[in-house]
Amino acid sequence: MDQLTSSTVFWLTTAVAFLLINTVILRALQKRKSSPAAAAAAAPPPVVQGVGLVRFVRAMARDGPLEAIREQQAKLGSVFTASAPLGLFKVTFLIGSEVSSHFYVAPDSEISMGRLYEFTVPIFGPGVLYGVDLETRKEQIRFNWDILKPRSLKASVGAMAEEVENYFSRWGDQGTVDLKHELEQVLMLTASRCLLGKELRESVPGKLCELFGELDNGLHLISGLLPYLPIPAHRRRDRARQRLGEIITEVIRLRRNSSRGAAGTDENNDDMLQCLINSRYKDGCAMTDAEIAGLVVALMFAGKHTSSGVSIWTGVHLLSNPNHLAAVVAEQDRLMASCPGRTDDYHRLDYDTVQEMRSLHCCVKEALRLHPPVAAVRQAYKHFTVQTKEGKEYTIPGGHMVVSTILVNHYLPHIYKDPHVFDPQKFAPGREEDKVAGRFSFLSFSAGRHACAGESFSYTQIKVLWSYLLSNFEIKMVSPFPETEWSTVIPEPKGKVMVSYRRRTAPK
Ligand code: HEM
Repeated sequence: MDQLTSSTVFWLTTAVAFLLINTVILRALQKRKSSPAAAAAAAPPPVVQGVGLVRFVRAMARDGPLEAIREQQAKLGSVFTASAPLGLFKVTFLIGSEVSSHFYVAPDSEISMGRLYEFTVPIFGPGVLYGVDLETRKEQIRFNWDILKPRSLKASVGAMAEEVENYFSRWGDQGTVDLKHELEQVLMLTASRCLLGKELRESVPGKLCELFGELDNGLHLISGLLPYLPIPAHRRRDRARQRLGEIITEVIRLRRNSSRGAAGTDENNDDMLQCLINSRYKDGCAMTDAEIAGLVVALMFAGKHTSSGVSIWTGVHLLSNPNHLAAVVAEQDRLMASCPGRTDDYHRLDYDTVQEMRSLHCCVKEALRLHPPVAAVRQAYKHFTVQTKEGKEYTIPGGHMVVSTILVNHYLPHIYKDPHVFDPQKFAPGREEDKVAGRFSFLSFSAGRHACAGESFSYTQIKVLWSYLLSNFEIKMVSPFPETEWSTVIPEPKGKVMVSYRRRTAPK
């Protein structure tokens, strides 16, 4: 397992290089922040160390994070610290919504991603996000939120549907395919079409997939510690990033030289790339071409594995649960009877119809609950106190790494009935178990200060994709139900997911 992945950063966090790189800073912080007030606060969390820590790390690698963390939880409770010898690192795990508030809502000056995401700088570019100061990053994240809001999504649904329709028109009347491969390809096409515009998609077919693939391949464990180490994978990553920058800036240049997107001139005001071009910092300055290209790459990257992982899990669960599948197909048939659907005009699908796909929405959300793709890790700059469900108080010292265990939270039986069972009704009206339990119960898109800007975009993209597939094909799993592959960028089904399909005939 040598690929550095967001899940690896989390799941093997106790052994990983990120922590080494921060050790010096953390120690300094600990000294600075250990004021008398901090000393007088509640006790620190119980600690797993020495042989216990070795067993914990081994369990992570052998059984996966859910079982490994739950085992520690059974011994130590819902807040505990993994501590390495010589103060090399201290990672505190927070389990449950009661202890999650500070993690998600406190200001960045108290707890933040800190330097953990610095490995993204050669991927996204030096002028954006984790390569710039906090204030600039906040403004750039605001630009992201602006382009991903419902108004832009409304304009994007047709483009997504067109890409999906085009892609699956290549399938025959029946056949067998690797669903993972197919969904990854089509999601890349829908995302690039929405974020980069039509002209780019048409001029560089296939190239984007290849270049983003090189960015993925450039993520190795060592990249977390030394992102600029001149290894072949990093060199290929850098070449791909440069080429992506050139392609995107060429489109920006063409747009700047034309009247497209200027206020009131044409339909391109709704295009996400154009919205980025039109964005302004608080001081009135526009982003440079390199900054826009960096944000586009970051957005594509943020959505690439997350969306494909979730769409595959959604499919795997649906195809393994005939009752839920039947409910979703019935919903599609009902919606498509009154609007464009199981014909060759699917690209006329609209945003409101996607919003009405409630059964499908619950299925995607349930897949997200069972398989949250992203881990949430922060660095505490100041101590903070949490109170567990059982009423125990702990003070987490400044300097600790802190992990919000999204996966474990999603399997808590006092929040979700039969947490191991795929049951989309958990989120249906009348149950809504996440809402009943309150804030921080469903965390796949994070929450609070750094909540995912792409949540609505992702749901829309995944729903459009499955809506088209289920409206147009009967699909059956050929492979057995897959295990989880923990060593990939996003925990995804292990191996190929082979399905057979048969084109549905139009309803009479
Ligand atoms: C199923 C798909 C996705 C999932 C599960 C997901 C999940 C997440 C999570 C958990 C975070 C917060 C990470 C943290 O707290 O450390 C996050 C942040 C973010 N996501 Fe997503 N994401 C998805 C798709 C997307 C897409 C498609 C985009 C853009 C097109 C996107 C853009 C972002 C951005 C910009 C942030 C940073 C927000 C900030 O730092 O304030 N995401 N995402």
